[in-house]
Amino acid sequence: MLQSTDVAKKLRPSPAVRFRLLRAALYWVGFAPAVWVFYLGFTNQLGANPVRTLEQELGIWTLRFLIATLMVTPLRDLTGISLLRYRRTLGLLTFYYALLHFTTYMLIDYRLDLQAIAADIVKRPYITFGMLAFAILVPLAVTSNDRMVRRLGSAWTKLHRWVYLAAAAAAAHYLLVVKSWPMEPLVYFAIVAVLLAYRLGKHLRRRRRRRPAVA
Ligand code: HEM
Repeated sequence: MLQSTDVAKKLRPSPAVRFRLLRAALYWVGFAPAVWVFYLGFTNQLGANPVRTLEQELGIWTLRFLIATLMVTPLRDLTGISLLRYRRTLGLLTFYYALLHFTTYMLIDYRLDLQAIAADIVKRPYITFGMLAFAILVPLAVTSNDRMVRRLGSAWTKLHRWVYLAAAAAAAHYLLVVKSWPMEPLVYFAIVAVLLAYRLGKHLRRRRRRRPAVA
């Protein structure tokens, strides 16, 4: 006769199924802010300047997901909690938010006026930095699948290190958007700076360890 513990064991999803379920849940939760802000937009609840609010909301969520992606490794190193399997999902969420943010700017704000957009990229430093961050995220998103990881080998790791430059550009973009010095962009800038410093420190320590000792 089957014991209740055997039944529980049989019903328990395998690690692969559990991973897929959790990944799907992460996408659902991750997209919730975008769905909510578009809902507010469609129902005229985004205030006096809805396009700007939409851009700002999508922008801040892009930065939050970018930071969450960068926090995965330090979190594992410092606490032992490993979310490495979900890092790719977080990275892709970052890209999808950046794409929505950029599309809002291009289609809704500038109505695809390519001349004005090009002028903006050249003349407004905050747009230049935003574009730089977005341009870096594109190849990272395109190569975020198993086939590309296998195909690129060690070049994949090198390519994905560019995410740190994207984060620096994104943090600078936010600082320059606001023009004055409120607390929030400074806090985001500081978080990105700490994450970059952590990565650099780790890289330097590793290099020192690899260098042969001089007799
Ligand atoms: C990874 C890429 C990017 C990130 C992380 C990002 C992040 C942000 C953040 C945090 C804000 C400010 C939100 C707030 O005020 O609460 C913002 C605003 C904005 N961003 Fe981006 N952004 C990115 C790329 C871009 C690109 C490519 C463009 C356009 C070419 C762009 C255009 C804008 C505009 C127009 C605003 C609103 C400025 C205003 O308040 O008047 N961003 N973005």
